Amino acid sequence: MAKIYTVASGKGGAGKSTFCANTASALEKLGKKVLLIDGDAGFRTLDLLLKVDSMVVYDWLDVLENRCKNEKALLFYSDKIQLLPAPVEIPENFDAEAFKKLVYGYRDGYDFIFIDSPAGAGNLVCSYALLSDGCIELATPDEVSARGAEILGDTLIKRGFNGENLRLVINRYDSKAAKRGRQLSPDNMVDKTYIRLLGVIPEERELTFASLSEKELSPYSEAYEAFCNIAGRLCGKEIPLIL
Ligand SMILES: Nc1ncnc2c1ncn2[C@@H]1O[C@H](COP(=O)(O)OP(=O)(O)OP(=O)(O)O)[C@@H](O)[C@H]1O
Ligand SMILES: [Mg+2]
Repeated sequence: MAKIYTVASGKGGAGKSTFCANTASALEKLGKKVLLIDGDAGFRTLDLLLKVDSMVVYDWLDVLENRCKNEKALLFYSDKIQLLPAPVEIPENFDAEAFKKLVYGYRDGYDFIFIDSPAGAGNLVCSYALLSDGCIELATPDEVSARGAEILGDTLIKRGFNGENLRLVINRYDSKAAKRGRQLSPDNMVDKTYIRLLGVIPEERELTFASLSEKELSPYSEAYEAFCNIAGRLCGKEIPLIL
C-alpha cells in the first residue's frame, strides 16, 4: 500500500513540482511505482514537466464529480510513474473527505503517492497534508523561503505533524554561495524552520530547462545523486547527509 506524501512550501517556486517529478524518477529506478497527483488546482504543472500535457482529458475533479472513473483519469508517463492531473480551476466547494477517499482509492496500486501542492499554508494544502502519511516541505536557502517553511511547519505541527512525518528538503543549494554568506547553510535552515532535514538538492542548471522526459539528469550530476539519496531515505535506507 502506497505511502502518501504531500509536497508543500510556504513560499512559491521552491521546487515542489521539480521535486515530485525527479523523486518519482529516482524511485522508479529503485523499482517503485509512483502516482503523482497534481494538487495545484488552477495552475497545474506536472503534466508539462512529464510532457504528457497534450494527453490530458480528465482530472481529479472529473473523478470527484463522477464524470470519469479513477483509472481513466490517469496519464502514463511510464509503467511505474503515473499522473493524476489537476483541474484548471480551483473547485468552489472542495470536499476534503471525498478527495481523501479518491486518493485512498489509488493506494493499493502504488508504492508512493505524492501530492504536489500549491504554495502557502491554505486550506487545500492542509487538507492534502491531513490525509497524507507525511509532508515534505521544500525551501530554498534564503530568509524568505525559510520563513515560509517555518510558518507552514507551525501550521502543520498545530494539526498534529511532528519531527517524524514533517521533513524539510533544501533546494537550489550552492555550497560556495553558502560559504560566502550569500545563502543560508543547511544548519541555518534547520535552526530557522525547526524541521528535520530529508535532503539537500543542489542548484542544477539542467533542472531549470528540462522537462523530465526531454532530458533526464546526468547520472554523474550532484542533483541526480541528491534525488537518489532522498528516494533511498523514503524507502527506509540509512543514507547519511553529506553536504
Ligand atoms: N535544484 C534546482 N536547480 C535549478 N533550478 C531549479 C531547481 N529546482 C527547481 N528549479 C527551477 O525553479 C523553478 C521553480 O520550480 P518549481 O516549478 O518546481 O517550483 P514550485 O515550488 O513547484 O513552484 P509553484 O509554487 O509555482 O508551484 C523552475 O523553473 C525550476 O526549473
Ligand atoms: Mg509547482
